[in-house]
Amino acid sequence: MYVLGIETSCDETGVAIYHPQKGLINHVLHSQIIMHSEYGGVVPELASRDHIRKLVPLINQTLSESNLQKTDINAIAYTAGPGLIGALLVGAATAQSLAWTWQIPAIAVHHMEGHLLAPMLEENAPEFPFIALLISGGHTLLVKVEAIGKYELLGQSLDDAAGEAFDKTAKMLELDYPGGPKLSALAIQGQASIKFPRPMTDRPGLDFSFSGLKTFALNTINASNKTFQEKADIAASFQEAVADTLAIKCKRALQQTGLKRLVVAGGVSANQQIRSCLSEMVIKEQADIYFPRPEFCTDNGAMIAYAGYQRLVSGVNLGLEIYARPRWPMSEL
Ligand code: KG4
Ligand code: ZN
Repeated sequence: MYVLGIETSCDETGVAIYHPQKGLINHVLHSQIIMHSEYGGVVPELASRDHIRKLVPLINQTLSESNLQKTDINAIAYTAGPGLIGALLVGAATAQSLAWTWQIPAIAVHHMEGHLLAPMLEENAPEFPFIALLISGGHTLLVKVEAIGKYELLGQSLDDAAGEAFDKTAKMLELDYPGGPKLSALAIQGQASIKFPRPMTDRPGLDFSFSGLKTFALNTINASNKTFQEKADIAASFQEAVADTLAIKCKRALQQTGLKRLVVAGGVSANQQIRSCLSEMVIKEQADIYFPRPEFCTDNGAMIAYAGYQRLVSGVNLGLEIYARPRWPMSEL
C-alpha cells in the first residue's frame, strides 16, 4: 500500500509517498519563500498559480526518485483545509483527478491533524495518549489525543496564533518574511533583558493570547533608538516570553490530565529556544517530549501522506467530492 501525499495549503508545495510497512519512501518540497518575500508576505493568488506550476512535476519527481510507477500508488491524500482556498483547490482538484483516473481512493486530510501526527514518522514515535501543542502560522492549539481521530481541544489562542505573533513582531523589527525564523536568528545575538508579559498565565485555563505581546513589542521598539543591539534584545525577550508562556500552559495541561507525554508540532516548533524551554519543563514533570524533525515541523507532504493513510484505514473523508475548506475546526474531525 503506497499513499501519495499532497500539501498545498499555503506557501509550500509538498509531495511524499508513505508505505505502512516500509515507512516514508520519499518526500519533496518546493518553498515559495523567494517569490513571496518581495511582497513581505504570502500573496494568495501567486501561491495558487505557483502550486499549479509545481505540483505535477513534483509528483513525477517523487515517483521517479522512489522507483515507483503511477500504477503502484494505492491512494492519494491531500490537504483539504484549513488554508488558502485557491491553494487548497489546486491540491484537492489535482488529487481527485488523479485518483479518478487511476481508480484509487482520494482522502481529504485536515492540515492540523497532519502536523499533529508528524512526530509519528520519527523512530521514537509517541504512544497514545498524549498532549499535543500545535503551534503554526494560523493556529495555537492544546489537544488531548487519545488515539487517531480522538481529539479533545483543551485550549487555543483567543487572538493571534504563535506563528502570527512571531511574523508580525518580526515585521515591526523590519525583518523580512518569513518572520519567525528571522526573528529567532536575530534573538541569538541579543539578551532577554526586557520583561515581556506572560499572557493569561496568572489565571486558570489553557487558552492563549499573543496579541498583547505584539503590542508590547511595538511600544518597546518605539521607545528605543532602534539600534541593532536593541532590536536583538527585543527579539530575544519576545521569544523568551512566547517560549515561557507555552511551557507554563503545557505544564498545566500535563498536570491537569495526568499525562506524561507531550508532542510539539507545527512551524513554530522548529524554534530552538521553544524546543529547549519545553524540554526543560518536561524533565521537571518527569514526562517525555516528542518533536518532528525540523523539516517536518513546517508544512510538508510527508505528514499528509501519513495522516491520509490513517484516515484511509479508518474509512473516513473518502469519496469523489473535492473537499476544500479554508476554515475547518479540528473539533469537527
Ligand atoms: O506550520 P507552518 O509551516 O504553516 C502553517 O500551517 O501555518 O507554520 C508557519 C509558521 C510561520 O508563522 C513561521 O514564521 C513560523 O511557523 N516559524 C517559526 C520558525 N520557523 C517557522 N517561528 C519561530 N521560529 C522558527 N524557527
Ligand atoms: Zn502548517
